[in-house]
Amino acid sequence: MDQTKFMVYGATGYTGQLVVAEAVASGLRPVLAGRSAEKLARTARRWGLETRTVALGDADGLVSALQDVAVVLHCAGPFSRTAEPVVEACLRTHTHYLDVTGEVAVFEALAARDAAASQAGIMILPGVGFDVLPSDCLIADLAARHPGGRRIRLGLAALSGVSRGTLRTVLEGLGDIRIRCDGALVRVAPGSLRHEFDFGEGPDAALISVLGDVATAYRSTGIPNIETYGQANRQFRLLTWTGRRLGWLLARRLPRHVLDIGIKWGPAGPNERGRQASSAIFVAEIEDADGNRATARLRAPDPYGFTARAATAIAAHALRGDLKIGYQTPSSAYGADFVRQFEGVEWDQLES
Ligand SMILES: NC(=O)c1ccc[n+]([C@@H]2O[C@H](COP(=O)([O-])OP(=O)(O)OC[C@H]3O[C@@H](n4cnc5c(N)ncnc54)[C@H](OP(=O)(O)O)[C@@H]3O)[C@@H](O)[C@H]2O)c1
Repeated sequence: MDQTKFMVYGATGYTGQLVVAEAVASGLRPVLAGRSAEKLARTARRWGLETRTVALGDADGLVSALQDVAVVLHCAGPFSRTAEPVVEACLRTHTHYLDVTGEVAVFEALAARDAAASQAGIMILPGVGFDVLPSDCLIADLAARHPGGRRIRLGLAALSGVSRGTLRTVLEGLGDIRIRCDGALVRVAPGSLRHEFDFGEGPDAALISVLGDVATAYRSTGIPNIETYGQANRQFRLLTWTGRRLGWLLARRLPRHVLDIGIKWGPAGPNERGRQASSAIFVAEIEDADGNRATARLRAPDPYGFTARAATAIAAHALRGDLKIGYQTPSSAYGADFVRQFEGVEWDQLES
């Protein structure tokens, strides 16, 4: 069967709906997929789009839903719970796989499917959203300008509300902080490492956090030591404290389930005004074996809007056949300059 279609799985979620709106605005006609026929019908009605209802536990159903799909953009997270069945189906249907995860374990699990992806002739490209597309481009560019880098430190200062899905994902990973050390992923305690970054107003304290770049920057640059940090504002200090004290509990199924129920009562995500007022700044620092450092900073507006625009742009490339087979990071597939095309992105080279 000819594969020409573009599917958004998880199209009824906060991010999925932003992606669908962006895709339609850019001339695409995605097939909307998810587990709830009723929610899909409500979302699809607005644009008159086709829907396909299939649960992730239904392996054969997923294969038949993806049979004529060239590219799927997976937006149903936390991806630790959802990525595997979609990728497995994509390998069977030869469908290119994209998602908006930022989860280290998910990037690692998908990287392990590289050979299978090559054999199936598909691209597996996770992380086409706010985290990690801009930071991956920033780091890849810095590493190319400074060959011989041995350590990367990435800081994030975010001024943004979060969606239910992001909150669920963040709480799930709160106690599981990883850094890359001599090529291996090593677990460290929340709050156990500190670093200073200039987010634009001089040196600012940051605490160790968990960003997907610990996985992706390693694949993009080969640099064996990577740490990611969050600006130590009041909110992030509270998250760090919670991760330290309650991380073990939040990783368990029952408390997670109770939290999921609580989160359902909260807002779906920032409203249009909240999104317009939000922004985030990444600072990447590279260090060589002699301790010489160089830094670059990238500011992007509206992380959720950015996610929708970036994910749609990548889907459009993949649909045109502009892609690389195998497991990819955003910069390995589309180059470090890819992020520069998006409106509002500001990039400063802060040489050492
Ligand atoms: N990296 C980034 O920059 C970035 C940006 C945005 C979002 N994200 C991630 O994207 C994910 C979704 O975020 P969101 O804000 O859109 O969340 P959301 O509003 O809660 O939506 C989640 C969507 O996923 C579906 N879903 C969840 N679990 C599922 C399962 N087991 N089987 C089938 N469908 C399932 C939900 O379907 P139902 O409605 O049927 O429950 C819903 O459509 C989160 O993991 C978030 O961290 C990442």
